[in-house]
Amino acid sequence: MAEQFVGLKSSLPGAETRTIKPCPRLEGEVVLPGDKSISHRAVILNSLAKSKAKIDNFAPGKDCLATVRCLRALGVRIVRKGSRDSPTLLVSGTSEGGLKEASNVLDAQDSATTMRLLGGLLASQPFLSVITGDASLRRRPMGRLIEPLRLMGAEVWGRGRDSFAPLVIKGKKLRGIDFTLPVPSAQIKSAILLAGLFASGNTVLHQTIHSRDHTERMLKLMGASLESQGNLISLLPLSNPLVPINIRVPGDISSAAYFLVAGAIHSNARVVIRDCGINPTRTGIIDILLAMGARLKIDNRHLEAGEPLADIVVESSELKGVEVGGDIIPRLIDEIPVLAVAGCVAKGKTVIRDAGELRVKESDRIATVANELSRLGAKIEPLPDGMVIYGGRHLSGTEVDSHFDHRLAMSLAIAGLIAKGGMTIKYAQVAQVSYPDFWQTLLSVTSKEPT
Ligand code: S3P
Repeated sequence: MAEQFVGLKSSLPGAETRTIKPCPRLEGEVVLPGDKSISHRAVILNSLAKSKAKIDNFAPGKDCLATVRCLRALGVRIVRKGSRDSPTLLVSGTSEGGLKEASNVLDAQDSATTMRLLGGLLASQPFLSVITGDASLRRRPMGRLIEPLRLMGAEVWGRGRDSFAPLVIKGKKLRGIDFTLPVPSAQIKSAILLAGLFASGNTVLHQTIHSRDHTERMLKLMGASLESQGNLISLLPLSNPLVPINIRVPGDISSAAYFLVAGAIHSNARVVIRDCGINPTRTGIIDILLAMGARLKIDNRHLEAGEPLADIVVESSELKGVEVGGDIIPRLIDEIPVLAVAGCVAKGKTVIRDAGELRVKESDRIATVANELSRLGAKIEPLPDGMVIYGGRHLSGTEVDSHFDHRLAMSLAIAGLIAKGGMTIKYAQVAQVSYPDFWQTLLSVTSKEPT
């Protein structure tokens, strides 16, 4: 019988602890959950379209389900079918004017994408909305959303002098703006574009550093008058309702990242990842792993609803440290926790800079990544906007904490695959936020007899 290298120690609600042991061989095929960013947009935009749409491989994590619940509370009929890990949604678009005032406070739970994208949309709808989230989301900055919306004429307020959720939104007709995005945030860019769809006059956005462009791609496909050229995005208000699109959501590259790093750092590995989204605004992790010397191959490139995807094969690699900073940061911002694990193993120093945004994610990821990986014996120096990782260290297992941050929980699990003696991760259930099947998938590639 194969030894189990990934175990569940206690399944008390709210206190699940996972054990991870080093395994002799890492091998197999990974089928990814649907991309979280694309799923949020597919369900929101199809909710506004003029008729029905089918979304296959919708992201199964809690974040995207929070968006679905909010949209249902706003009167959108969304039927969920298919398997737990790869749901299909049937969305009955409501067209312009079709959203209805919710009878209660909307709950975005842990999902900043839900809050910010819906925040922009609701600012332009003729009714009152109140939107809140869990303790972690209520600590995340919302001033960056409120400020541009107010320039469009929106009436939006937040706690802490308009800095934090809950948000109160008295929706009304807005006017388009010409605005330079101060942070390269796709959530803020998308919120403004959603508001701009129903505004009077054009919306023009200048982005000095490009963030993920799923909203722009999908809006164009659905018939919106949107042009993006260089650093400029220009949107005309909708003159006709959006055309619904059926889409099979590509696999989430942010979820693939755990297995890309696992394959690269494990000394006896070959992992194949199927149908992974490779939108160039998201592939920073591939570029950096290649620069570190990862043996990584991209095959079978194809397109799905305007989004490129491919299969990726990764094998055991000899990694070397790199410098990561500048324009690439938004292209891998969510992958930095697991990239840090690769940095611990790589030969030499890995320096990550220009990533101050990590401090305002689900946890302060500069602090939590540095602290938790240090417990395993890593040497990491936190910087105000990044970290210096001194690689080539041997990690040894101990108890670590997810800080209720899904990406930290899964990154620590990958470190556990090579940490001597095995380790336990507290509050590991938080992986459900983006990747409910993560532990099963990890088990499926680790539970192999030595070869
Ligand atoms: C996201 C954008 C990014 C990313 C987040 C998802 C999106 O956040 O970190 O996980 O779907 O638009 P910012 O917009 O805050 O950079």
